[in-house]
Amino acid sequence: MRKLIISSMVVVTTLASAQTRSTPEAASGTTSILQIDAGKVTGKVSTELYGLMTEEINFSYEGGIYGELIRNRTFKSNKQNPAFWNTVGEAAMTIDTNQPLNAALNVSLKVDTSKASKTSPGGIANGGFWGIPVKPNTTYRASFYARGKKFSGPLKLSLESADGKMVFASATISRISGKWKKYEATLKTGGIQPSKENRFVVTTTKPGTVWFQNVSLFPPTYNNRPNGTRPDIMQLLGDMQPKFLRFPGGNYIEGNTIAERFNWKETIGDVSQRPGHRSPWGYWSTDGFGLLEFLEWCEDLHMEPVLAVYAGYSLRQQHIEPGTNLDSFVQDALDEIEYVTGNSNSKWGAQRVKDGHPEPFPLRYVEIGNEDFFDRSHSYEGRFAQFYDAIKAKYLQLQVIATTKVQSRVPDLLDEHYYRSQEDMQAHALDYDKYSRTNKTKIFVGEWATRVGSPTPNMAGALGDAAWMTGMERNSDIVLISCYAPLFVNVSQLTGTNRSMQWATDLIGYDALNSYGSPAYYAQKMFSTMRGDEILATDSRNIPKREWQPRARRGVTPPQQQIRQVFSCATRDSGSGIIYLKVVNEAGTAQNINIQITGAPLVDPEGETVVLAAGSPDDTNSVEQPEKVIPRTEKADNLSANFTREFPPYSITVLKLKTK
Ligand code: AHR
Repeated sequence: MRKLIISSMVVVTTLASAQTRSTPEAASGTTSILQIDAGKVTGKVSTELYGLMTEEINFSYEGGIYGELIRNRTFKSNKQNPAFWNTVGEAAMTIDTNQPLNAALNVSLKVDTSKASKTSPGGIANGGFWGIPVKPNTTYRASFYARGKKFSGPLKLSLESADGKMVFASATISRISGKWKKYEATLKTGGIQPSKENRFVVTTTKPGTVWFQNVSLFPPTYNNRPNGTRPDIMQLLGDMQPKFLRFPGGNYIEGNTIAERFNWKETIGDVSQRPGHRSPWGYWSTDGFGLLEFLEWCEDLHMEPVLAVYAGYSLRQQHIEPGTNLDSFVQDALDEIEYVTGNSNSKWGAQRVKDGHPEPFPLRYVEIGNEDFFDRSHSYEGRFAQFYDAIKAKYLQLQVIATTKVQSRVPDLLDEHYYRSQEDMQAHALDYDKYSRTNKTKIFVGEWATRVGSPTPNMAGALGDAAWMTGMERNSDIVLISCYAPLFVNVSQLTGTNRSMQWATDLIGYDALNSYGSPAYYAQKMFSTMRGDEILATDSRNIPKREWQPRARRGVTPPQQQIRQVFSCATRDSGSGIIYLKVVNEAGTAQNINIQITGAPLVDPEGETVVLAAGSPDDTNSVEQPEKVIPRTEKADNLSANFTREFPPYSITVLKLKTK
């Protein structure tokens, strides 16, 4: 930690309260002391320090933030059978490869209703992503492509309970053509109870054969975007005030193989022209949530994109050697940047305009690949150089991010990833204090998390995260941007072959109907929304420590370590003079800490605290108890340039000190 010299004591009050008492004389030898030198600014807090990271994992888009309610709407998730679809009444169904809608959606669902009648209708049903949510007085937009043979309709669409006993809304498509055609209808619910154990059903009373493709159902979306996002999850994200979105991965950009990479050109335009692909996390993505949808997500939440481009390496060690073979991939990246930022005179800018977004998007950061330290061919050095040179030649202003160290070029940022235990986070929370201040390459902590708690982190996870965040914030002159990962998890089915979670400990959880933020979510929200613009010099003394035995690695047990139990950082809003002192108490006992502030002309005796605390490190939030652990805001009084305050067990505190 950088050193600070306490020069003078200012404005000491004599009032005392339960939590805060003034400490006019020097604290005793064992009292924990935090010192803030408000006269010494060590750097600027990066305005983009806190952002979001996203990829298709844990049903993040399909079954997550993407509004689509139908699972396997294109029937491509399984070659053999129409997974997640059932027949209803008198009907039979098969995947038909001979009746494609088009080259992208090259299969369809053939439904035989030859035995259907007025008294025995037949059709198909979809149970969504672990249920189809219905809410009162809500309009749902249904659409699909269909063609009939000896069948001209009508088709009845309905939203009903899983057992078919309750119908919440319905609509009828009266005529079906013999040629592929798109059909649309709206279904409106009345004064029903919200529920999710429901299905979407398409039936007929007429015999015949009908083929379906791209069967879709949308609830109202955030900002009413037609192919948009789920409002409750967007609200949770918006409340964090994130500054950027790193997308589309993570492993999702790489794919298991080159063919399964995130091929952005196949994720734009009309959704019925997007072929979709298998995500490395084991399930099918329709790519209905594609490049433009990511960008519109950014726009809706006022975030900048941090655009990761595919860099010629996929997870199963397939790679493309630098040189001419890589040229088309480099060109794809340049085209992608043009799609994001180009005007209508450019080829790909014009494509974006055609896709419905006339305005270019802002873009400053482009990341070359993901976790290329896993590439055993060691081709990243050359691949990075090829991408870097091409991007800088055309877009000199862009900040280019490397995913592992390179020698031949100087990346603007290096993406570091940390998944750790709570104790590991505590042991490493001061690491960035020791980083070089002269290194031209700055740091992007592009994935990090304290992996404690499943499916979402518990209070122990939040405490480890908060310790880590004090280190990033105190050093955000070099740690310019950071984002936790993974962001989302669908908590509907945590185990089994059809599980909704592939990676435990994810910031935000949801099922088809409800969403919630974990304690770690609230910790991040506190850091992100209470962030000054100046980093103040701090120091500490007599911080309690405890012994910790790190885990053995490759049969070798490392020596025991003493790890700190209290972490802190201080920033100031230069406009208002408010100092944000963040204090993390990892211990199960309250900590009395003497806070000494120098270099501030006046500390107002009245301030505010925002405290996230729990009775146990295992305490957590869930769909059932979404707000068990949330921050509480309280007035703080008796503040001064030298006071002692009690910080509760297992707590994260932001103390707002008004200085003039
Ligand atoms: O966040 C989950 C995965 O962890 C990411 O996809 C990958 O980049 C990392 O290994």
